[in-house]
Amino acid sequence: MSINKGTLTLARYFDSRFVLSRSVSTAHGTLKQIFPDKKLTSHADWHKFSVEQPEEFWGGVARSSLKWMVPFQKAMNCDMKKGQFEWFQNGKINASVNCIDRHVEVDPERIALIWEKDEPGTEEKITYRSLFQMTNQIANLLRRHNVKKGDVVALYMPVSPLAVASMLACSRIGAIHNVIFAGFSADAIATRVQDCNAVVLITADEGVRGGKTIPLKQTVDKALGRCPSVKNVFVMRRTGAEVPMATNHFYFQDLMEQEKSECAPESMQSEDSLFLLYTSGSTGKPKGLVHSTGGYLTYAGFTHKTAFNYQVGDIFGCVADIGWVTGHTYVVYGPLLNGGASVLFESTPTYPDPGRYWETVERLKISQFYGAPTAIRLLLRYEESFVNKYDRSSLQTLGSVGEPINVEAWEWFNDLVGEGRCDLVDTWWQSETGGICLTPRPSEEEAEILPGKPMRPMFGIEPTLFDEKGNVLTGKGDLNGSLCLKTPWPGMARTIFGDHERYVNTYFKPYPGYFFTGDGGHRDPKGYWQITGRMDDVINVTGHRLGTAEVEDVLDEHHDVAEAAVVGFPHPIKGEGVYAYVVLKEHVDTEREVMLGQLREMVKKGISGFAVPDHIQFCSGLPKTRSGKIMRRILRQVAANNQDNLGDISTLADPGVVDEIVKNHEELQ
Ligand code: WT7
Repeated sequence: MSINKGTLTLARYFDSRFVLSRSVSTAHGTLKQIFPDKKLTSHADWHKFSVEQPEEFWGGVARSSLKWMVPFQKAMNCDMKKGQFEWFQNGKINASVNCIDRHVEVDPERIALIWEKDEPGTEEKITYRSLFQMTNQIANLLRRHNVKKGDVVALYMPVSPLAVASMLACSRIGAIHNVIFAGFSADAIATRVQDCNAVVLITADEGVRGGKTIPLKQTVDKALGRCPSVKNVFVMRRTGAEVPMATNHFYFQDLMEQEKSECAPESMQSEDSLFLLYTSGSTGKPKGLVHSTGGYLTYAGFTHKTAFNYQVGDIFGCVADIGWVTGHTYVVYGPLLNGGASVLFESTPTYPDPGRYWETVERLKISQFYGAPTAIRLLLRYEESFVNKYDRSSLQTLGSVGEPINVEAWEWFNDLVGEGRCDLVDTWWQSETGGICLTPRPSEEEAEILPGKPMRPMFGIEPTLFDEKGNVLTGKGDLNGSLCLKTPWPGMARTIFGDHERYVNTYFKPYPGYFFTGDGGHRDPKGYWQITGRMDDVINVTGHRLGTAEVEDVLDEHHDVAEAAVVGFPHPIKGEGVYAYVVLKEHVDTEREVMLGQLREMVKKGISGFAVPDHIQFCSGLPKTRSGKIMRRILRQVAANNQDNLGDISTLADPGVVDEIVKNHEELQ
């Protein structure tokens, strides 16, 4: 079959391939259709093909699953040593066309989005036709306000159809969206907007979560004074609350209505940037990861299809916020690329009660439910009736993401929620990887799944472990080391906005020729993979990635603080909690309680509520080596209540401080 016979044929071609009956619905079925000449049967064989011949593999996937305005000539041109990547060279493509137009052509009344608003029972369904209209109107509006190809548009919005349409509208005109999680503070907005020079900011009057309103516009207003690049602000009406409007602030829906519902899509180079997303690293300033168009879309659609065995007609329920990468890939791009119906979850796991997720599953008939372990750990403490009273027979696949899932949480999720009959997939990936890299069942329908492990590599992914000396770990036994990825894949971030050197240094210098994930990994004798946690100063609090240095920077700003060190510690619900050691300047006579309040407030204001330390210990000094390096290992051990296991402290400049911080810690408990 020719795939270059014009757009309509291509759209049909796509749909006929991917609308498969469930009997041939495995990833194998998908792969066999893309590569009819390959006589491969097992996951191991397909995986081998994908990593040994990535050009043929990804070329086949990209050609058959996306609509290209101009076909690409060469699938890949990548250099893992230099950190230079080019996928689908000279191909031209538009993301919004792939997510919307081609589905409108075949089935305009199909549901694209189900907005599960905060108040149960008030959901709104959006068809592909109406998503097309919204997106095109916004695209025209942005163009009218002078947004050009390559400009950055910042979004600080509630999870909502208008937020999704805004992301897609950016892509329609070649603008780069930068979604800022709507829980971040004004300071965090300002830093991000200043870094990316966004020309437009789209927000809402207020957000609504867990029955409470969140003053989004008010927070934006506090940031705008420091954001000179922003020319115009659009305000979505979510609650209708009165908010102050300056002359360059406009009500979004009012202006949208005046726009035409068709906007010619920009023809983008495959490597043009689709979006920026800020994420925390081990040093202070968050980094703006840049994702490409053709490569990201190829990976988002393909991994969504294979990791969850997604079929058109399934209701995909990923409850992540669009402000994180999970929301980008598995709320917006993945499901829409596959012509799916995606749930936009605005609420919380416990509103109005801890049965909310499962009540939503029953009401919306969700087929795949994808959420975070931190929520599962919270919910398993409540009575089982909050789960049992709802019909969960629509569920086929459960997914976990964002942090390691402990066996207790895995079993509760699998046995109680999934009644032991659903596939539960623990998926490992990162903002940097663009999509899922390890997942228990990328193909083979009957493959074994073990609790709490992402187990198997996605197609095209070749995990490798390194020891402390920088040697590759090999052999068939249990292996523990630093997790790197050997082969490039199309979904990887291409650079850090404005700082390519930092990108190369962070990801490609530590193990030349490999992508360094920052995570520790374990491979068991059967070859199954597990993540052991971050190896750098990044922690994971309620599934949110946080650099300990970011918190330290905020604490250091307090005029009475001489020095601060922040570490993570195991927390039964949050995964990790935040523990701060603070050294005050001499002669500070502010009361400690007052000081605690001020420090907590500063972190909330400087970053976000989730970053506020659970414990703040005041101490007279930090454990340091003679060369002045803080021994974080000791701080981590104390915070984790492992004070009896501090290891060698003889290299410390002043071993006496250890006794003090242990004593202080015990008093705090
Ligand atoms: C970090 C990436 C993946 C999208 C959401 C988070 C941790 C993620 C798992 C998992 C153990 C996990 C890692 C990773 N992580 N998934 N299944 N098991 N750890 O994206 O904010 O970029 O965070 O989250 O430490 O490096 P992110």
